[in-house]
Amino acid sequence: MEENQEQQAVSMPRIGDPAPEFKAVTTQGDINFPSDYKGKWSILFSHPADFTPVCTSEFMTFAHLEKQFNEANCELIGLSIDGLYSHIAWLRTIKEKIEYKGMKDIEVTFPLIEDIKMDVAKKYGMIQPNEDSTKAVRAVFFVDPKGIIRAIIYYPLSLGRNFDELYRALIAMQAADEFGVATPADWRPGDDVIVGPAGSCGTAKERMEDSEIDCKDWFFCTKKLDKDEVLGKVLKK
Ligand code: BEZ
Repeated sequence: MEENQEQQAVSMPRIGDPAPEFKAVTTQGDINFPSDYKGKWSILFSHPADFTPVCTSEFMTFAHLEKQFNEANCELIGLSIDGLYSHIAWLRTIKEKIEYKGMKDIEVTFPLIEDIKMDVAKKYGMIQPNEDSTKAVRAVFFVDPKGIIRAIIYYPLSLGRNFDELYRALIAMQAADEFGVATPADWRPGDDVIVGPAGSCGTAKERMEDSEIDCKDWFFCTKKLDKDEVLGKVLKK
């Protein structure tokens, strides 16, 4: 591989970067990313190949959960290094023939990008040559309503994604934005949240004495945040 090709293959956008722009052909028509998704969250994810078992289990799960993601103002967009006709045939097979964990007759209605030339996959660092040079790894990019990459998760080819975690991460980032807080390990709506360091809104002493804030020490303070308040902000009515 020429040096510049190799560099292109490993170029990776990072958290906080604007999502690299692209136009693509998908199973739902052409898309311009991220501009078509302005004002919404999106999850852009890649899978290694159509007609493979782990990917099939993932697509069925994502399609099954799509409404739940949409209700949190989030759109799903898939991608693999396959052509449009392969995508269409695979999705038709899933709908007509595959039953898995109680899911059947599953129709994938979110766009699946064809990326035969790997243009998008290379832009997003989805090709990781030491894992596989012709298949995308299982990458997940969370892009916010302003088109900024907010979280990135990569999985190897053999490991199917955890969709509870993808949904949890989405809701946690939205809650952090809405309420100006951070979320601790394994946080779920209804759990206490982390309030920022003293300084911007009071001294450490005031904070330690605030009855609504529970400080374990000066650097680690939490407060209650009602589940309904979180979900009321995050979920569309
Ligand atoms: C799968 O989705 O099953 C798969 C795809 C590529 C490599 C290994 C597994």
